[in-house]
Amino acid sequence: MFRLVKYFLLVVFFLLVACGEKEPATLSYNFGTPVSEAIVEKWNIDVGPDGAGLPEGSGTAETGEPIYITKCALCHGEFGEGMGRFPGFVGTPEDLVDESPSKNVGSYWGYATTLWDYIYRAMPFGNAQSLSPDEVYGITAYILSLNNIIAEDEVMNATSLPQVKMPNRNGFITATGADIHAVVCMQNCVKDINITSRASESQASLSAKDKEKDIGNYHR
Ligand code: HEC
Repeated sequence: MFRLVKYFLLVVFFLLVACGEKEPATLSYNFGTPVSEAIVEKWNIDVGPDGAGLPEGSGTAETGEPIYITKCALCHGEFGEGMGRFPGFVGTPEDLVDESPSKNVGSYWGYATTLWDYIYRAMPFGNAQSLSPDEVYGITAYILSLNNIIAEDEVMNATSLPQVKMPNRNGFITATGADIHAVVCMQNCVKDINITSRASESQASLSAKDKEKDIGNYHR
């Protein structure tokens, strides 16, 4: 008998819940307008390493060179050698075997498609996203040919660009597991740890003027 009452109450409970359920009210803060497809489209410009997202268009080093000279050379040098503190693009993976390695397009970048994405998205500095896909294919081809990765007349487009093999393509490893391999000391461990210097002290030893310069460097 008690069981029956229990089931009856359960059924009543579920009926009540079912009746009480209403459509959730649409939250509205009464400001802004719904984002349009056209706006989303403008932001949706990412290109994957495999070339997914590359638009139609094409270019060669020959079509890209004059555009590069007009729009890029003033900061990056006519031959991508870099100017002052603006980065250069030319190198080989040999540049990485150095105490202060130079990570540039030729020495470091794993995918030519990333170069396309970066230029289309962020350059020329101060006037980003002003270049057409054709111009970016040409400029990308020019930078790749400066690095002797492709020939001057090789056509770069959505099909050929992902096939370009960058010199450092296989220079990356996927890190798995712990990167600290020290064995935990359980007995006869070092008693006194001698700290020889602290970062804050080496900062303190700088003169006020040097400190300012040092901080300035980080902000450049
Ligand atoms: C006014 C100066 C200026 C102009 C003009 C300019 N750039 Fe840059 N470029 C920069 C600066 C500054 C950086 C570094 C940005 C950063 O690290 O955030 C940069 C970085 C780059 C990089 C990445 C380099 C690396 O290895 O990290 C590429 C590629 C590049 N620019 C291509 C171009 C191309 C192509 C053009 C012409 C369409 C161009 N830039 C025009 C200033 C400029």
